[in-house]
Formats: sequence, structure tokens, C-alpha cells
Amino acid sequence: MPIAPPPEELHLSQRPNLSGPIPGPRSGDLLDKQAVTEANTVAYPLSLPIAIDSAQGATIEDVDGNVYLDFSAGIGVANVGHSNPYVVETAKEQLDAIAHTIDFPTEARIEFLDALNSIAPGTLPDNNRIAFGGPTGTNAIEASIKLAKYNTGRSGIVGFDRGYHGGTMGALSLSGWSSYKSDFTPLLPDVAHVPYPNPQNHETPEEALEATLAEVRAVLSGRAGGLDEPPAGIWVEPIQGSGGVIVPPEGFLTEMAEITAAHDVLMIVDEIQTGMGRTGEWFASDHAGITPDAMTVGKAIGGVGLPLSATIYREELDTWGPSAHAGTFRGHVPAMVAGTRAIEYIDEYDLLDRATRTGSYLQDRLRELQQQCHSLVDVRGRGLLIGAEFCDSEGAPLPEVVGSIQTQCLQRGLVVWTAGIEGHVLRLLPPLVLTDEQARVGMDILQDVVESVTEEREYDG
Ligand SMILES: Cc1ncc(COP(=O)(O)O)c(C=O)c1O
Repeated sequence: MPIAPPPEELHLSQRPNLSGPIPGPRSGDLLDKQAVTEANTVAYPLSLPIAIDSAQGATIEDVDGNVYLDFSAGIGVANVGHSNPYVVETAKEQLDAIAHTIDFPTEARIEFLDALNSIAPGTLPDNNRIAFGGPTGTNAIEASIKLAKYNTGRSGIVGFDRGYHGGTMGALSLSGWSSYKSDFTPLLPDVAHVPYPNPQNHETPEEALEATLAEVRAVLSGRAGGLDEPPAGIWVEPIQGSGGVIVPPEGFLTEMAEITAAHDVLMIVDEIQTGMGRTGEWFASDHAGITPDAMTVGKAIGGVGLPLSATIYREELDTWGPSAHAGTFRGHVPAMVAGTRAIEYIDEYDLLDRATRTGSYLQDRLRELQQQCHSLVDVRGRGLLIGAEFCDSEGAPLPEVVGSIQTQCLQRGLVVWTAGIEGHVLRLLPPLVLTDEQARVGMDILQDVVESVTEEREYDG
């Protein structure tokens, strides 16, 4: 089967096409019905009040026929584009054959294991095992916590301030967001957090790195963080995505790999948001040339948004037995087919390079904007995971500015998302198949909106 259509031909259009105010009448109706019937935990439509009909490539159509450019990709899921026909067609064939096989082997499962093995970072290819549990990224994190405890016989686990690893009790314990956690305590015992090396908080990136590494060494020795002995593992995002697109200084992951090896503590790299080409390599670990002891993947590995996650780890750690990490849905086969096809598609069209090129363009445009706009205090990212941070002249976060930008972008047909505990970072993570024209049109809209929102604010005083 030819690997087609090419990225340029995946989309509904190259620019937004709106037919009226947002939300339109049919969206309004569905939003009202959802509010009556679904739980208060629904969150996304509060910021982006639309009801979705369909999506193709980097475009979304709502139920009123409005077409949007999508700079969020379902929060880093649709890397090869929404409803990519090359991926969807074979996933449909698998659905017709069989969807659920628990963990019995199928051709599709073995093909996917081979595909994941081939793109794993460092020395993991042909030296790893892959565990499937539940379909969410959070579940892969839970598996990795159990794996680290099982292999080391230790109980302590370490995460980073502002890290985000998911919403279940173990993943939540590792996350560094007290606002997410405080209503659900007590969580796991023996959890420590260390500061992530955020260059914004220090005079130089080197200083940020050294400050973090000193804390990491102390905690991993069992001398800090309230732990009585070295922990089982430390969980790290190569770039903190939800925490505000924080890009650590050069050398961070390499140093972490050395320190964890020296202390005999496992280093688990959470590639759930940064994986599958998002940062311009298959995994962000590849930029550093490291081999994680274990890594978690999710989001984009199900190809077109089919739910799938996995924990991939060094073969020597495969000491546990059958059902040590159990679950009914141990790898959804149509999602596995979709994942294999997505990997082929990324490879065929060199979407890693495209992510790097398009990401540079988006960052350059944001930096130009930064020249005129004082409250846009920082632009950062790698590949197509980009953050733009908004603060006032005293350095106080401006979540209301980012909220207005998001709302006004939607009114102009551009979907953008946010990040940061304070919600003051605009996060751009479009599909890797975004065309040059879509990138330009989207940035023209964003530029207009940012100028108007920030000028208005300055005018208001
Ligand atoms: C880095 C990271 N880890 C874990 C998760 C949790 O994944 P899921 O929402 O699929 O459970 C997320 C979700 O945003 C994430 O960004």
C-alpha cells in the first residue's frame, strides 16, 4: 500500500473558514446538553467552546461547518494529522478483523513491537522489553513506578517541581503540581521533588543546571527530600510540557543519566508528550544521546488518537512475572496498527525534519513579536513543542492575557492551547504535518491577536 497522501494533501483547507460567531447554534446546543449530562470534570470546552464534527490533518471542522487551523493536535496526539487516511484505513481493517485480544499475539501486535523497538532511543533497540497496561499515559507511569520498586526493592520515588505525569494516585504523587493534588491527599508515601532546571529562574543556564544537579545528587544519595535511603527511581520530562514548556539547559539529561547510574537509581524518562517526533527526533532523549533505564510513551503512539500507551525499559529490568502489571486493555490492536502506520508515515515524509523546520519558523515569528510586545517575556521550545510566556513588568504571570489570546484566536479560526501552573504560557503543539502556508496563516492570526490583546491591556493600564 503506498504511503499516501502526502502531508500537503491531508487538510480540509490551508486557512480557517468561519461562517458566523463562535460558538455557532449547533455547537451551543451540544455544549448545553453536555453541561447538563456530563461531570464537572469536563474542562476543554470551557476554554474552547465548540462541538467538533470532524478533523483532517491540521484542520478541525465544528458542527456548524466552521473550519479551524489546529495548533494543539488534541494536546500532542495527532502528530501525523487528524484522520490520516493511511493510518485510518488499516486501523479500520483491524477493527473489522478483531479489536480486543487482551495480550494474545497478533501479527499487528508483533509488527508494532518491532516498530517501537526500531525507534527507541540510545541502546534500547534490541535490548528492551515493552509493557502494555491500560491505554493512558498515566497508566504507563503507574507501570514504571511498579517496575522501579520491583527491581530495586526500594520505595522512594522522585519527581520534579512542576512536572506532570498524569491523574491517578501514583502519577499524581510524582507530579509537582500541588493545586492538582491537595484535594486528594494522602498520596503515595516516600515521594520527593527537586526543582527542574529552569533557565528563567537563574542568572545563567549553567547555574540552573548546577542547582538542580546538586539537589538530585543529594536526594539520590538518600540525604535529602525526606527519604531515608536512595530512591527506586527518578522521573523526568525531557521538556516540561504541561508545566510551561520548560526547556532545560543543554547537558541536563546526559548529566542525569550519569548521576542516576552512579547512584544505582533508575532514570525514567517520560516521553508521553515529547515522543513520536514532536521535538524533531523520535524521542527527546535522542537529542541528548542517552539511553533511559525506562521510558513511558503515550498520546501520539496510537497514530490518530486511538488510546495506547507503553512502558519501554532495559531488558535486564524484565524481572517480574505474568500479570505483574495487569489490565484488560493491554494494548489495543487497532491502536497498535495505527501506531505502526504512523511511524511509517513519519519516516516516509521525514516529519522529524519538518517538525524542526516548522518549529523554527514558529519560534522566529514569536521572537519577532516579542520585540514589540513587552509582556511576551520568553519564547522557547524544541521542534513543534513551543511555549510563549506572558508576564507583567514586575514578572507576575498573566494568565488572563493568555486566556484572551486563546479565546480571540478561536474567534479567528485558530486553536491554541496553554500551559503552566499559572496558565500564563501559550503552548503551540500542532500536528507535524502542518503545511508552510498553514504555519504562516496561523502565525499571522496569532500575531494580530497578541498585538491587539496586549495593546488593549497596556492602554487600560
Ligand atoms: C508528560 C506527560 N506524562 C503523562 C501524561 C498523562 O497522560 P494521559 O493524559 O494520557 O494519562 C501527560 C498528559 O498530558 C503528559 O504530558
